[in-house]
Amino acid sequence: MSSQLLRTKSIDRLIAESENPAHKLKKTLGPWSLTALGIGAIIGSGIFVLTGTAAAGEHFRAPSLLHAQVLDLLLSLLRHGNTSAALLHGRPAAGPAIAISFILVAFACSFAGLCYAELASMIPIAGSAYTYSYATLGEIFAWIIGWDLILEYAVSNVAVAIGFSGYFNDFLKLFGLGIPARWSEPVISGGHLSGSYFNLPGFLVVVGLTFLLVRGVRESAETNNIMVAIKLGAILTFIIAGSMLIHPANWHPFMPSGFGGVITGGAIVFFTYIGFDSVSTAAEEARNPQRDMPIGIIASLVICTIFYVGVAIVLLGMMKYTTFISGAAADAPVAYALRVLHANHWVYFMVVIGALMGMLSSLLVFQYGQTRIWFAMSRDGLLPPLFSVVHPKYKTPYWSSWIACLAVALPAGLIDIGTAADLSNIGTLFAFVLVSLGVIALRRAQPDRPRGFRVPLVPWFPLISVVFCLVLMLGLTVETWIRFVVWLAIGMVIYWTYSRGHSEFAPEAASAAHSKH
Ligand code: ALA
Repeated sequence: MSSQLLRTKSIDRLIAESENPAHKLKKTLGPWSLTALGIGAIIGSGIFVLTGTAAAGEHFRAPSLLHAQVLDLLLSLLRHGNTSAALLHGRPAAGPAIAISFILVAFACSFAGLCYAELASMIPIAGSAYTYSYATLGEIFAWIIGWDLILEYAVSNVAVAIGFSGYFNDFLKLFGLGIPARWSEPVISGGHLSGSYFNLPGFLVVVGLTFLLVRGVRESAETNNIMVAIKLGAILTFIIAGSMLIHPANWHPFMPSGFGGVITGGAIVFFTYIGFDSVSTAAEEARNPQRDMPIGIIASLVICTIFYVGVAIVLLGMMKYTTFISGAAADAPVAYALRVLHANHWVYFMVVIGALMGMLSSLLVFQYGQTRIWFAMSRDGLLPPLFSVVHPKYKTPYWSSWIACLAVALPAGLIDIGTAADLSNIGTLFAFVLVSLGVIALRRAQPDRPRGFRVPLVPWFPLISVVFCLVLMLGLTVETWIRFVVWLAIGMVIYWTYSRGHSEFAPEAASAAHSKH
């Protein structure tokens, strides 16, 4: 049995399977398109929503261990031998120093990015980290990561849909058409019932996009390029227009909670970088993956960092960081700052429309990515065949698409953005850890296989990536960790009761065991 758990798919076989004309994808993407793909996936709602709340911190009415940062908790235990210091803390404000958090997180991500690049350049197959771990670490790890990637794709889309709802409503208010809070706010917020019935715009946007996805409308490289231009245009407009509304006094204090605030802020805004790894999911469609995958991943990371730092510096120069602690200022801080400081109407219009369109394209890319991963897992037998059934007319995995729709739209109607983003962060960071370890494992197992891109200083760079990811994971709350562990436990139950028996390796494993006796 253990041999099945650790069975790896051969890389040659994976490549051969993808070459099968029935499943073959066209190789059309060059370095520019790949970079644009990365930026398209990276910039969603995070920068437009989380920058404010991460800078402002959070104050809990009733301090609870569940809300404590795991890192704080460990430090408190080490220093004082008890947890009381962590309890008092709540979530510290990063303040304007959130700009530093963005830089640090990008630096941390770049190590994981290099690891993704190495694996993507040697295993140019759709399916991202799921496929890599099947080739490197074995079936059980492939399952764990595939299950975990739901947190990265579906749960992050829950957060983006909620962010979309906030900006959409702010925009409607401009015309006096705002949707009542009962129908546009999360039902459960900060662990409490908010009195709202449902977040309707968050729900409907996902349902609408699923109709498009099922009909086979996916973002083509050309549309993506246009969307990226719109997103970057919106951010640039904000940076330029906002910089004229800066009061330097707002930058003081720059680091109100010291370096601890910068780290916890980083653990939150990590969300804004999720997606850079999705460049690797396009490896099968890249013209020259060996050269272009690393370029696409690192370039998209660098460009987004420059824009993110710009937004952070300007936004927190426009208004005091404490402004963004709750209400409309927390839901849609960029729009709020422009509106309250009476920026030109056209500027407001361009920024908010650009942000909304950017969120739509990000939602589309991630919903699409989720169905692709399920498709691959179902093809391998780890998920039921339903997940790889394609629509007779549109040739899209329509069951996967609708299941992904429900999995994203319903929570988007119910929960708050912070909960979804934190859960997504921990899941993605965990995937990064496994991918980084995968690089080390594969260098040992298959040292001679050609690699278009090689991570420098292995094992040190992958290990640095692991450490950075763990530090960011520890910056999240006890509550998030508990959710994450429960999620993995549910995954294990499904693996043991279904996937293990249905895996394509299962019959082989059974007959191998049989022949031994
Ligand atoms: N990185 C994506 C965002 O910021 C998920 O919304």
